[in-house]
Amino acid sequence: MRARPTRLDRLPEQYFTALLARVAAAAAQDGEPLIDLGRGNPDIGPPPHVADALCAAARRPEVHGYAPFAGLPALKEAIAARYCEVYGVDVDPEREVAVLPGSKTGLMEFAQVCVERGEAIVLPDPGYPDYRSAVALAAARHVPLALLADGRPDWDAAPREAAALYLNYPSNPVAACAPAGVFEEAIAWAERAGAWVMHDFAYGDLVFDGRRPASFLATEGARDVGFELFSMSKSYGMAGWRLGFAIGNTEVVARIEDLQNHQFAGIFMAVQEAGVAALAGPQDSVEERRVLYEARRDRALAALAGHDARGEGTFFVWFRLPDGMTCERLLEERRVAVAPGEGFGEQGRGWARLSLATADEKLDLGLERLRGI
Ligand SMILES: Cc1ncc(COP(=O)(O)O)c(C=O)c1O
Repeated sequence: MRARPTRLDRLPEQYFTALLARVAAAAAQDGEPLIDLGRGNPDIGPPPHVADALCAAARRPEVHGYAPFAGLPALKEAIAARYCEVYGVDVDPEREVAVLPGSKTGLMEFAQVCVERGEAIVLPDPGYPDYRSAVALAAARHVPLALLADGRPDWDAAPREAAALYLNYPSNPVAACAPAGVFEEAIAWAERAGAWVMHDFAYGDLVFDGRRPASFLATEGARDVGFELFSMSKSYGMAGWRLGFAIGNTEVVARIEDLQNHQFAGIFMAVQEAGVAALAGPQDSVEERRVLYEARRDRALAALAGHDARGEGTFFVWFRLPDGMTCERLLEERRVAVAPGEGFGEQGRGWARLSLATADEKLDLGLERLRGI
């Protein structure tokens, strides 16, 4: 049979799958047990009342059928209430919220519903690798936009026209919180360029040094040009549960729901009910998690002093590798895995990302091995 090219052929290597394979191969070799600080997988799950809500819901016979495709209204109301309380943003739960099986799905869907084949999608460089997969699956054109030292896009280098812009604060991998005025700048650029904006707020609550979480939707005009992704994975330690939201522009939200009506058949109702318990119940765990990551961040910055290490938010620290040092050498010589910066874009070359989502003891051992690189 004749092989016909498809847009799947455009997909880049899946960065994290490849990284995991490299780390597993290194771990299998003789030597000290390897410390993996490459992967960002939350090491602390949700608080007990959330797991209890899941179990209680799963025992009710009526939750096992197909869920409403658009999600439970109570879940949309719970995220809207949280947006009001935590970020000072009013959201219409019916028209401005789409429920997602994880925010990764939403960032893929954004390109599907807002971009035509061949159009330009502007991505932060360095940025989350899956954005590039979204561009490929939409058969769109990738336009990298370098981030400046404070994490702000270099707007002078932005294209005049584009179909979409991805933004991400606190940002993976550079761990920068939204610099003052960046959302206003993004909205002004989007209006000129005719682009939709997606703000990836997956690490929204993980901000340090007294900073306040900053939702894109709190900026005037944000809803006219775009929307925000909120994830249950990081704020509540529910990465494996696959639950997130697209919140903002009613047209984009409707398009996402439309796509999901065709592509999926809803999310298990017990998971959605547990999501309501997480969002509407006691919030102590969100702050406890934030404090824990901040303490780990402090230790990582101390261990990496002299390496331009940054960590304003997220559970990552971004640092510069000394001349001649590579992540492969760290793996072989120090038995520590970190994520190579170039995997996040050309601007990441010579840098690396370290994950704080690792048990304290392991993290400290890894930091000890990195000291003095
Ligand atoms: C920047 C960023 N966006 C989105 C996601 C996806 O999160 P989830 O699909 O678990 O909501 C991640 C996960 O690591 C991420 O780092």
